[in-house]
Amino acid sequence: MYRSTSCNTLRKENAGQSVTLAGWVNSRRDHGGVIFIDLRDREGLTQVVFRPEEHPQVAEASHGLRGEDVIQITGLVSPRLQGTENAKLATGQIEVIASELTVLNKSDVPPFQIDSKVANEDLRLTYRYLDLRRSEMKQNLKLRHRVAKSTRDFLDEQGFLEIETPILSNPTPEGARDFLVPSRLNPGSFYALPQAPQQYKQLLQVAGLEKYFQIARCFRDEDLRADRQPEFTQVDLEASFITAREIQTLIEGLLSRIFKESLGVDIPVPFQRMTYAEAMNRFGSDKPDLRFGVEIVELSDVFAHSQFKVFRSVLDNGGVIRAINAKGAASALSKEQLKKWEEWAKTELGAKGLAYIRLKEGEWESPIVKFFSEEEKKALASKMGFEEGDVLFFGADKPAPACEVLGRVRLKVSELLKLTEGSKELKFLWVVDFPLLQFSPEDNSWVAVHHPFTRPKAEDLELMEKGEFAEVRAEAYDVVLNGVELGGGSIRIHEKELQSKLFAALGIGPEEQQHKFGHLLKAFSFGAPPHGGIALGLDRLVMLLCGADSIREVIAFPKNNRGVDLMTHSPVEVEHKLLRDLSIASTVKKA
Ligand code: AMO
Ligand code: AMP
Repeated sequence: MYRSTSCNTLRKENAGQSVTLAGWVNSRRDHGGVIFIDLRDREGLTQVVFRPEEHPQVAEASHGLRGEDVIQITGLVSPRLQGTENAKLATGQIEVIASELTVLNKSDVPPFQIDSKVANEDLRLTYRYLDLRRSEMKQNLKLRHRVAKSTRDFLDEQGFLEIETPILSNPTPEGARDFLVPSRLNPGSFYALPQAPQQYKQLLQVAGLEKYFQIARCFRDEDLRADRQPEFTQVDLEASFITAREIQTLIEGLLSRIFKESLGVDIPVPFQRMTYAEAMNRFGSDKPDLRFGVEIVELSDVFAHSQFKVFRSVLDNGGVIRAINAKGAASALSKEQLKKWEEWAKTELGAKGLAYIRLKEGEWESPIVKFFSEEEKKALASKMGFEEGDVLFFGADKPAPACEVLGRVRLKVSELLKLTEGSKELKFLWVVDFPLLQFSPEDNSWVAVHHPFTRPKAEDLELMEKGEFAEVRAEAYDVVLNGVELGGGSIRIHEKELQSKLFAALGIGPEEQQHKFGHLLKAFSFGAPPHGGIALGLDRLVMLLCGADSIREVIAFPKNNRGVDLMTHSPVEVEHKLLRDLSIASTVKKA
């Protein structure tokens, strides 16, 4: 037996017991020949004392111990002397007086101290197995386990079956690039790793499984950010004979269960609902953070007769003038910073400009205010609630880009003014009635806003028939928490003809439809039930539950933002012979 208990269990009541513990040397202190060690295992820390007067040989051996050595000790649990208790430690009232010591393995000096904050993320990822020894990371992984367990328990109780779907599969259009895997047995052919189990879960509905779920690995070759990884995990589900409302209620129940069981928090249900149009108009985002206001205000009426040439030409061309009020931001935003923000809006957001007005010491400081009449100024101030210390930002453009730019500025204002810092608020939201299709100028074609299996709203089918694609809304919904898109789903198309029509709208002709989606269209011709579903980003959910600012904090072995695993160096070059076996010729010339 390596141990009789963990390093997090012993309390005052255990005083007098003999115990055996095993773990890592977290820290070592020498107090005049008496060695104190904090022994660490997965569950916590226990102080172990080596006293030369009681156990001279063991105490002597303890002098050689260093951080991260793996040891086993046996000793007597003793209450700590008054004044030496550690209230921060669960085991802080006791210590174990060691009478036996076995060194199970020695450690080299680690590249960073475990249980200290390590700023260098590359170093952490290179030595991830040491990074994961830190209690914060263990807590994150424990919480992740808890969330997965709650999910399985809840969905099982609701009659869902956990069913695995293939990893070696076909391309699924979820909007990212596919990772491809060459097939040795079929030279020149490739599997695609699934961007999501979308088609399989729909086929399981055709198969009559009715309620499917999976904690599913998904793979997307896209540009990486704090909340994006090339491989990530979804809580993926699909059901037959179900409405959008029922799916939303199910997810509210699931999230309530998860928050209760992982954080002990009751979240209010049902969640607030907002249409996509309202979210874009008020917050300039389809995943608005509702923990703060700074809403977008329509000013086209105020400037209807404007002589300012920018506003004039935008309005004459069917555009709008909108603005947000960064309340109290005047002192935090110098003129140079305002110029920088303007530059950022132009270069990063593609805005034509970012006009502003700063109200400081009664002065309207702005490059554009000289073009405003007294009347316009009055109407503007009243509509915006513009007061001393405020900064207004303007977006003059077609409604969608004007709102998108102001939505991004709104987030930047929140960051600047730390509007959500320290907030414990949980603002859940359903965003509904997304547009079905969006015109992509790059592709010169319509693309699906969610994916091409999403059902148009029944009321808008006529618009679809008429080819007024921009106006067609989808039976689609996203669940948002504090400005993060936790998940998205929809009611699906289950009729072969409608599915085929939608593919056609996307510019996918009959031949390509057969080639790429023939299996699905065929399946739909054998009595496909009405069905729908959703997928939650598990990593993002756990990230928010942990209060982490990146999903890398909740994934055991993540990739960095170049898609590289710094610990294993994956992806690696492969031998020429391997490529040849796969019938692949590399065109990459090595430097
Ligand atoms: P969607 O593409 O919206 O929908 O994905 C669902 C959720 O998965 C998470 N997510 C990611 N998390 C980490 N890294 C990524 N690269 C990443 N991409 C997506 C997000 C997102 O909300 N098949 C549909 C679901 C359906 O219609 O049922 C789908 O995959 O939290
Ligand atoms: P200009 O006349 O182009 O020098 O612009 C004057 C001010 O208006 C600058 O502060 C620009 O950033 C701003 N501006 C120009 N075009 C727009 C626009 N479409 N929306 C918001 N601000 C703009």
